[in-house]
Amino acid sequence: MVDFRQLACSLLGSLLFRLSPLGCYYDFQQDVSKSVAIIGAGSAGLAMLKTLLDLPVETRSEWDIVLYERRRDVGGIWLPDPSPPPPPELPETPLYPLLRTGTPIPIMTYPHFPFPPGTPLFPTHEYIERYHQDYATHYGLWPYIKLNHSVVSSSWVGTPHAGHWEMVVEDHNGDRIQKSFDHLVVAVGISYAPHVVIFPGQETWIENARGGLQREIFHSMWYRHPSWYANQTVVVVGGGASGIDVSSQVSQYARKVYLSIRSSPRRGMPTGPVEMKPGISHLTSDDVIFTDGSTVQDVDTIILATGYDLRMPFLEEGGEVIVKPGSNETDEHRLTTNLRYLFPLHKHIFSLSASYPTNALAFIGLPGSPFGRPSDIAESIYATSIIVNSSLLAPRAELLSELANSEEDLRRRGYDPYYIGHKMIKNSTFDYQEGLIKTLRLKEGLPEQNTTFVEPWRRESLDYLRGSLKRGWSRLEALGLAAEWLDGVESEEEWADLMRRVDAWQRDWETAHHLVFPDEALLY
Ligand SMILES: Cc1cc2nc3c(=O)[nH]c(=O)nc-3n(C[C@H](O)[C@H](O)[C@H](O)COP(=O)(O)OP(=O)(O)OC[C@H]3O[C@@H](n4cnc5c(N)ncnc54)[C@H](O)[C@@H]3O)c2cc1C
Ligand SMILES: *[C@@H]1O[C@H](CO)[C@@H](O)[C@H](O)[C@H]1NC(C)=O
Ligand SMILES: *[C@@H]1O[C@H](CO)[C@@H](O)[C@H](O)[C@H]1NC(C)=O
Ligand SMILES: *[C@@H]1O[C@H](CO)[C@@H](O)[C@H](O)[C@H]1NC(C)=O
Ligand SMILES: *[C@@H]1O[C@H](CO)[C@@H](O)[C@H](O)[C@H]1NC(C)=O
Ligand SMILES: *[C@@H]1O[C@H](CO)[C@@H](O)[C@H](O)[C@H]1NC(C)=O
Ligand SMILES: *[C@@H]1O[C@H](CO)[C@@H](O)[C@H](O)[C@H]1NC(C)=O
Repeated sequence: MVDFRQLACSLLGSLLFRLSPLGCYYDFQQDVSKSVAIIGAGSAGLAMLKTLLDLPVETRSEWDIVLYERRRDVGGIWLPDPSPPPPPELPETPLYPLLRTGTPIPIMTYPHFPFPPGTPLFPTHEYIERYHQDYATHYGLWPYIKLNHSVVSSSWVGTPHAGHWEMVVEDHNGDRIQKSFDHLVVAVGISYAPHVVIFPGQETWIENARGGLQREIFHSMWYRHPSWYANQTVVVVGGGASGIDVSSQVSQYARKVYLSIRSSPRRGMPTGPVEMKPGISHLTSDDVIFTDGSTVQDVDTIILATGYDLRMPFLEEGGEVIVKPGSNETDEHRLTTNLRYLFPLHKHIFSLSASYPTNALAFIGLPGSPFGRPSDIAESIYATSIIVNSSLLAPRAELLSELANSEEDLRRRGYDPYYIGHKMIKNSTFDYQEGLIKTLRLKEGLPEQNTTFVEPWRRESLDYLRGSLKRGWSRLEALGLAAEWLDGVESEEEWADLMRRVDAWQRDWETAHHLVFPDEALLY
């Protein structure tokens, strides 16, 4: 039987554009126009917006593309929140005033958009904030960005084959607006829900503060100024980049700093007078007791640099994502976050929930990596192509079995996929990025290209994350030579060459002085 409503709709769809009186919004939205909402204007969201706008104008001219960002500007974590509220209310960003990048900026760039000449190789955070603003300006992204707009909830209304996202967005005045979109692209970052550990006995320890002093335990997300800990005894918990950096900074002011880590540090060693400790076992009314039985008294502050939980509050709100800490159980109609891994997703991007089409919900930026921006772009290209043409994806069942295979492959290599989550192991980010682009070219029937997505200099710069480049740059700055070395460095190739030269210069010097440093591991 002919479905007359459908027929009328498709005819109308080609004549009109926007809502028709027959209520055939969805059918014709798919034929003529699409609406896409991106959430978040950090590195990942900007990458997605730029990539959508790169589509041929004839493809996207009727599309409605909006990026919602809850904060006052773009940049994500790199945009400061100068006066964070006290816990438990969350700061807008974990950024602290003395943060410098832990990775050299040439590798932190979007492809073909280097930092301005003269930028230090390991700059303070202001440069990265500015870089994102420049990117938005250079690629004409601003007209599509709605700042001060926070997405409160988002639910699918429709069938597994057709429908739309019903979104509630709160603007700067606290007014709530309702909007619907065909496609949702989530780029909200992976560092806004602090992972808080609780030690046995900590209540007693806090209550037992004496002499008008206060004892505090808080997550590094609230950490701002090291001078606040002058004359204190501080224990920093966690051996990731934040734990190392925060303990190094606080040690310049505190009476004594301990860094408590459960296994050997992954990201270098703290600088400054920091005493290493194993994990905390428990607290008593006066003591912090470590797993090796050693005890520290007179501790004033414990800073938890214990990372972040993977949460999606606005999707949890409508039941699209359910939270099951530590679980590996999936529900066919929902996504699950076990706080480290969001599943099941196709290539860390598309939701494989059976409730909506496989190109309805995409995530950009989940595989946080020092090579994050090129990875965001590769993911954005993949997501954009599949939003344009959903037939580029195999049926869901096939994608699920592909996912099971890649999880099995990780297990064979000794990693638990439900524990490492979306993190890229060692250099696998390059194969991941290349794989996304290659898969698309094959599916689109485009010829194999002899150019690669990942520039050879980026692969090469993996070596520079081992530590010598950073030590070399510090030495150049201390010698007052930084500006001289930066002189004339503009193109990507010149930035790559600068990294090569500084790294070699430092390694020669270290060899000549018989200095040996442990390699910093490559897992970010
Ligand atoms: C302390 C720290 C230091 C780091 N140092 C480095 C480094 O040296 N080198 C490096 O490569 N990487 C570093 N990173 C990783 C960094 O997170 C990435 O470089 C990158 O900035 C992540 O971008 P993103 O867009 O994925 O997420 P984010 O930067 O977190 O951006 C997400 C955006 O989404 C917005 N948002 C969230 N929820 C909503 C909502 N409901 N509605 C509207 N908007 C919303 C947020 O306001 C935010 O602007 C660091 C991270 C931290 C926390
Ligand atoms: C966003 O909010 C800030 C205050 O937090 C305000 O200064 C700014 O003008 C607002 N920007 C827009 C585009 O509404
Ligand atoms: C830290 O202690 C020293 C010596 O006891 C004292 O001179 C100094 O004023 C103290 N500083 C702060 C910020 O309390
Ligand atoms: C989940 O974990 C259980 C127990 O460890 C295991 O038996 C099961 O195979 C796992 N399932 C998946 C999908 O990994
Ligand atoms: C969409 O992709 C499929 C599968 O590759 C292809 O056959 C089809 O021609 C594409 N459609 C458009 C409009 O490009
Ligand atoms: C990635 O690492 C593997 C082993 O760790 C190595 O064999 C391979 O050559 C590396 N690839 C690149 C591009 O660096
Ligand atoms: C790609 O290969 C073709 C022929 O195989 C060659 O003519 C061309 O120069 C190559 N391009 C690059 C960028 O290497």
